[in-house]
Amino acid sequence: MTTATHRPVTTPEEPLGGAPSDSGAVVPAHVAIIMDGNGRWAVRRGLPRAEGHRRGVEALRRTVKSAIELGIRYLTVYSFSSENWRRPAAEVADLMGLLKLFVRRDLAELHRNNVRVRIIGAREGLAPDIGGLLEEAEALTRNNTGLTLVVAFNYGSRDEIARAMRALATDVAAGRLQPEAIDADAIATRLDTAGIPDPDLIIRTSGEERLSNFLLWQAAYAELVFMPILWPDFDRDALAEALDLFRQRDRRFGGLSAQTG
Ligand code: FPP
Repeated sequence: MTTATHRPVTTPEEPLGGAPSDSGAVVPAHVAIIMDGNGRWAVRRGLPRAEGHRRGVEALRRTVKSAIELGIRYLTVYSFSSENWRRPAAEVADLMGLLKLFVRRDLAELHRNNVRVRIIGAREGLAPDIGGLLEEAEALTRNNTGLTLVVAFNYGSRDEIARAMRALATDVAAGRLQPEAIDADAIATRLDTAGIPDPDLIIRTSGEERLSNFLLWQAAYAELVFMPILWPDFDRDALAEALDLFRQRDRRFGGLSAQTG
């Protein structure tokens, strides 16, 4: 592991970077996951895609537990993108149902485990029951101090950036902000992720190798790990493998590595 000379611009609530785990190994502070492959997992078994998503929620539960055990501070999961509305209505309904079930069934346990829930993504246009549940999850767990679970729901990075730009333009038009004062921090503090450190590691399962409109701004210095495993099969071993790959990376943040610098 190298020491960064430059840090990505952000407004973290606590210092960035990895923390030593119980075993002394450096653990990324923030891991973000594109949970891909539910549909293929189901189709390969002759099951409906909905079953793949249901098993995907089980994998999410396992991953939250493993993240806590491994000492990860922030876990962000891409649960529904702003583009997922293009899927057939029945599948969208399945995914909405699973989100509601996840919040109703798991919120109390997340709270007991000191998990703080944050939701990123556009709230406008969501069904009132969904919007209400998301608010309830955040309000109940607001003061928790353990893992922060960031659920990206109705999330698209370009939409998030456009909303931040709109907020900046509104401030400029109102005379509260000078155009010269617009810098990376001014943008970061208007994103949905304000206050959350940038991801150190982004994992995508299912073998696809792209970001699909996920955390495009925040990913500036993230290490990307693409794994062939389909999301419903993801478990603690797979997460540990991704962390091992992360440790082998030479993070320079635009500077020089410790070896050469
Ligand atoms: C990608 O699989 C996964 C999604 C579009 C949604 C991820 C959702 C979950 C893990 C369950 C829901 C969890 C919550 C908290 C709502 P895919 O359908 O794109 O799979 P494919 O690429 O194999 O078709």
